[in-house]
Amino acid sequence: MSPLNVVVGITGGIAAYKAVGVVRALVLAGHDVHVVPTEGALRFVGRPTLEAISRNPVHADLYEGVAEVRHVAIGQAADLIVIAPATANTIAKLATGLADDLLGNTVLASEAPLVIAPAMHTEMWRHPATQANIATLRSRGVTIVGPAVGQLTGADSGPGRMEEPDVIVAAALERAAASARHDLAGRRVVVTAGGTREPLDPVRFLGNRSSGKQGVAIAEAARARGAAVTLIAANLEVGEPAGCDVRRVSTALELQQAVTEAARGADVVVMAAAVADYRPAGVSESKIKKDAGDGGLTLELVRNPDILAGLGHAPHDGTLLVGFAAETESDDERLLDLGRAKREAKGADFLVVNRVGWTEGFAADENRVVVVGRSGDVVARAHGTKMSVADDILDVVVSELATAAAAADPTEEHESR
Ligand code: C5P
Repeated sequence: MSPLNVVVGITGGIAAYKAVGVVRALVLAGHDVHVVPTEGALRFVGRPTLEAISRNPVHADLYEGVAEVRHVAIGQAADLIVIAPATANTIAKLATGLADDLLGNTVLASEAPLVIAPAMHTEMWRHPATQANIATLRSRGVTIVGPAVGQLTGADSGPGRMEEPDVIVAAALERAAASARHDLAGRRVVVTAGGTREPLDPVRFLGNRSSGKQGVAIAEAARARGAAVTLIAANLEVGEPAGCDVRRVSTALELQQAVTEAARGADVVVMAAAVADYRPAGVSESKIKKDAGDGGLTLELVRNPDILAGLGHAPHDGTLLVGFAAETESDDERLLDLGRAKREAKGADFLVVNRVGWTEGFAADENRVVVVGRSGDVVARAHGTKMSVADDILDVVVSELATAAAAADPTEEHESR
C-alpha cells in the first residue's frame, strides 16, 4: 500500500496510552501520521511522546496556527482518520457534528474514511445515548472497531475495552484500501440483510435471530468500493448504512418483491438476509387469545417461495448471485457439503457458508465463512470482523466480474490479469 496521510485522533480515556501503539504501528508501516489529541488526551499522554512516536509536530489547540487555517487543513489533507480511543463524549460530539476543538474541526473538514475505536466502561457503552450515537455514525459510513470484551480499568470487566492497536490499525488500513480501490465503481449491487418476520396476528410474528450486521457490512463495503448499492433491509438491528438506496421490508413475500425488482439489470445480488421458509397459513385480524387453543395451540404454516432459487433458476444473464447458508452443522466437511449442495440447488454462483448456533454467528461482530464456487471448490475462507469478511467476499465477486468482462471482451485489458 502506498504511504497514506493518516490523522490519529486521541481522546481523553485511560486507553489513550495504548493509542501510542496505534501511532507507532502506522509509522512503522510507512505512513505519515499526524496526531490530533484532545485536551483530555494530553492529560493521559504527553505531547513529546506523541511527537517522538509520530515524527511530526502535534497540535491540539484550535486557536494556534490560524494563519495556515489549520482547523481545516489537517482534515483536508488526510487519507484516513483513526480515533483511538473514542470516548463516549467524543462519540456524542461526532454524532452531532460538534467542532469545539481541533479534532472536531478536522473530522468535519475531511472526506476521508473515519475509523473509531470506542473505549469506555460497560455501562457507558450500553447506554441508549451512546448506542444511538454509534448507530448514527455507522449509518454515516464510519467504521467502528470494537470495543472488545475484557478487563476494564477498575476491577470490572465487560464490553468497553479498547481493541488492541494491531486490530485497530489492520481495520483502518483495510477501510482505507477499500475506499482507494474503487473496484466496484460503475457496478450495481443489491444486498439483502436482516431477518424476515411473518405475522401471526397484529402483535406477534415468527422471526429469526439475524441482526443484519453481515449484510449491512457487505452493503457498506460495496459502497466504499464505488458500487451503487440497493439494500433490501428486513428488520435490521443495526443502523442503515450511508449512501445506499435502502428499501425496508418485513416479510419474505415483501423481500421477494423488492429484491426481484431491484435485481433487474444488477451486476451482483448478495442474499445475506435470513428468510423464513414458512409463514402462518392465515394472519389473525385480532390478537390470538391465550385460550384460543385447547390447552395447546397448533399453527398451520405454508411454504414461502425460495427467493434465491427463484432468481437462480430464472434467466439472470450477467447478474452474479451470491447466497448464504447459515448452518448448525458442527463438522467442517459436512458443513461444506451442505454449502455445495445448497449452491447447486439454488443456482447461485457463490455460496457463503457459516456456522450458527446459540452463541455463534448472529449479532456477533466477527464471522468465519467459507465461500463455495460453481465447481464446488472453496474459493475463499474469511475470518475476522464482519467488515473484513465483507471485503473478502467482495474480492471474490470483483475477480469474477473481471473474469466475466475479460471473457466477454478479450481485447480489453482487465484488472484481474
Ligand atoms: O435454504 P436456506 O434458507 O438455508 O438458504 C439460505 C439462502 O437462501 C440465503 O441466501 C437466503 O437469503 C436465501 N433464501 C431465500 N428464500 C428463502 C429462504 C432462503 O432466498 N425462502
